[in-house]
Amino acid sequence: MLQRYPDAQRMNHWLIALLFFGAGLSGLAFFHPSLFFLSNLFGGGPWARILHPYMGLLMVLAFAVLAVQLWKENRWTKTDTEWVRHSKDMLAGDKSNMPPAGKYNAGQKGIFWLMVVCLAVLLVTGVMFWHAWFPEGNILMRRVAVLLHAAAATGLILGVIVHIYAAIWVKGTIRAMTRGTVTETWAKHNHPLWYKEVKERPRA
Ligand code: HEM
Repeated sequence: MLQRYPDAQRMNHWLIALLFFGAGLSGLAFFHPSLFFLSNLFGGGPWARILHPYMGLLMVLAFAVLAVQLWKENRWTKTDTEWVRHSKDMLAGDKSNMPPAGKYNAGQKGIFWLMVVCLAVLLVTGVMFWHAWFPEGNILMRRVAVLLHAAAATGLILGVIVHIYAAIWVKGTIRAMTRGTVTETWAKHNHPLWYKEVKERPRA
């Protein structure tokens, strides 16, 4: 077994996931009347409206901690562009031409940066119509903010769906976040450059 995530990082990741579902489901309740029933999960409309921004803010803060820890390993390289070029073959079941990945492959890196951008937009635009704490400001700005907030939420939800699908699709990945470890075979097969780096690291 190889260590992939320390305990604190995993606890933070699951806190982010919990807050994502809380902020996401309460946000969807305001998005369309047909989804308003979701507000019952939070004690009704007023409570959903009160809790939503706090859950969102906490999610952004918790994610910021994870992003500061992981951004270096998510830097884009030439190999990643090559990986994207061959990704069609991989989706068709042929992994033979895929360039070797480091700790994260290009797909994971793309989702990581999508999350960073969407969460930054959600934070900035969300503050612009959080009347409990911030001045109401100009109506046009608020309308643009609401539109961008919904667009960023859509991007984040789609990104997280792909993220969860990939975690389930690549067998042996979920345990990286539940136990913190992965098998050597998983690492060699899916992230050979990371495997090499971990094996060459001097033992603590
Ligand atoms: C039920 C929901 C979720 C599941 C099952 C899940 C699963 C996982 C797994 C298994 C990993 C490890 C992947 C690896 O090391 O190769 C991971 C990493 C990660 N997850 Fe999640 N996740 C969920 C929700 C979220 C949410 C909501 C966010 C952020 C909004 C998120 C952000 C991340 C990030 C940033 C990483 C590190 C990967 C990277 O930096 O590219 N996850 N997740």
